[in-house]
Amino acid sequence: MSCLLEALSIDVGYRQQGVTTTLLQNFSFSLQHKEIVAVVGASGVGKSSLLRILAGLEKPLAGEVRYQGAVLNTPHPHLSVAFQDPTLLPWRTLAQNVAFGLNFRHQPSLNAHERQTRVAQAIDAVGLRGHENKLPAQLSGGMAQRVALARCLARQPRVVLLDEPFSALDEITRHEMQQLLVSVLRQHQMSGLLITHDIDEALLIADRVVLLGNRPGRLVGEWQLSFSQPRHEALDEFAHYRLDILKKLRNSRAAINQE
Ligand SMILES: Nc1ncnc2c1ncn2[C@@H]1O[C@H](COP(=O)(O)OP(=O)(O)OP(=O)(O)O)[C@@H](O)[C@H]1O
Ligand SMILES: [Mg+2]
Repeated sequence: MSCLLEALSIDVGYRQQGVTTTLLQNFSFSLQHKEIVAVVGASGVGKSSLLRILAGLEKPLAGEVRYQGAVLNTPHPHLSVAFQDPTLLPWRTLAQNVAFGLNFRHQPSLNAHERQTRVAQAIDAVGLRGHENKLPAQLSGGMAQRVALARCLARQPRVVLLDEPFSALDEITRHEMQQLLVSVLRQHQMSGLLITHDIDEALLIADRVVLLGNRPGRLVGEWQLSFSQPRHEALDEFAHYRLDILKKLRNSRAAINQE
């Protein structure tokens, strides 16, 4: 595996009315080619802010983010983001919503045939063929999440960044989506970065779990998971990882609450 996306000593935070708040300080991270990383950490630690920076949507307060060795200051066609809320346009069909992902700035322009092919391939990849003409109101929550993933995939990214994408789904649908995500990323040799509050989800999906904690936040734990996929039948093997992550999560939250 080779390094694809990296953060070099970045500070993550925001400026409001002249006051700078630092959420993560001196944070370094790298995502390898074909690697899937899950990011966990207490609410408010700065996970979503970090994801926006790694996607090139915002700049860090300090330090720099590099994609394939070059400084990343703007969105990049190889990086595709899916947020928790699928945000489908209600008046557009499923296929049009998937195609919408190709309209962003910083996206190479495609002719009509190329667009159609990409949209059809992405819809196929998430198992929604035959539903192209449905409107969002006709879709279940799980289907809407599939559309959001297809919209992400239609851009043919190298890295998919997902912010709690499955948290609103029932358990069975969530398991299906987790398996789908892993198989799609593997098949297309993409890397993935997934933010989640669900430790089992992190253990099921990721090659590596990264825990952010304390204030200002930093990396407080990292676990390499070299178990083969699919893992749904093998959750017992992860019991000690789950306990260890929970323990460190609790300690890092206690450090925040003592302030
Ligand atoms: N531009 C901004 N202006 C004001 N507050 C901000 C801004 N960006 C982030 N914050 C605040 O910083 C904190 C951390 O935000 P962030 O969304 O990154 O946390 P998170 O780890 O993703 O939390 P959660 O797990 O709840 O999604 C939050 O309290 C948020 O309100
Ligand atoms: Mg968040």
